[in-house]
Amino acid sequence: MPSQSASVPATATGLASQVSLSVNRVRRRMEVDNRTSLLDLLREHLGLVGTKKGCDAGACGACTVLVNGVRMNACLILAVRMEGAEVTTIEGLADEGELHPMQQAFIDRDAFQCGYCTPGQIMSGIGCVSEGHAGSAETIREWMSGNICRCGCYVRITEAIQQVASASEGA
Ligand code: FES
Ligand code: FES
Repeated sequence: MPSQSASVPATATGLASQVSLSVNRVRRRMEVDNRTSLLDLLREHLGLVGTKKGCDAGACGACTVLVNGVRMNACLILAVRMEGAEVTTIEGLADEGELHPMQQAFIDRDAFQCGYCTPGQIMSGIGCVSEGHAGSAETIREWMSGNICRCGCYVRITEAIQQVASASEGA
């Protein structure tokens, strides 16, 4: 027999809240269970499955998104804390069909194998460059250390980020 907590909707138990946020430049107002992570809101409620669930515990970086321009692990954030936030996921990077320079750099450098970590690597790489932590391969490796790649594509990931950092220096 199902437990009461499993059978009673969160909205009926006072465990749900309204949250208003922007996801990929689209304003959303939603009711979510207070225990829902931003990662589950993106994947389960909005169908934005480009943001991956690896560890669900803040240890792999697969779920990295930008919140108000800052890279964060979506699995560690409660969705209800996102009131008024601007969230960008991998699906929101391309501009009218044109890939973001970081997406293009990952293709140019062949910086993936299975691709599971890649959305998180790309979002984190964007954060790494915008923070000014892409001055050398060593610095990039240090500031990208929260993004794990089981396929071991680290050399090419670093090259892709260096490509974008060099282009933005010259811009
Ligand atoms: Fe969020 Fe691993 S799924 S850090
Ligand atoms: Fe497979 Fe990174 S490309 S985990």
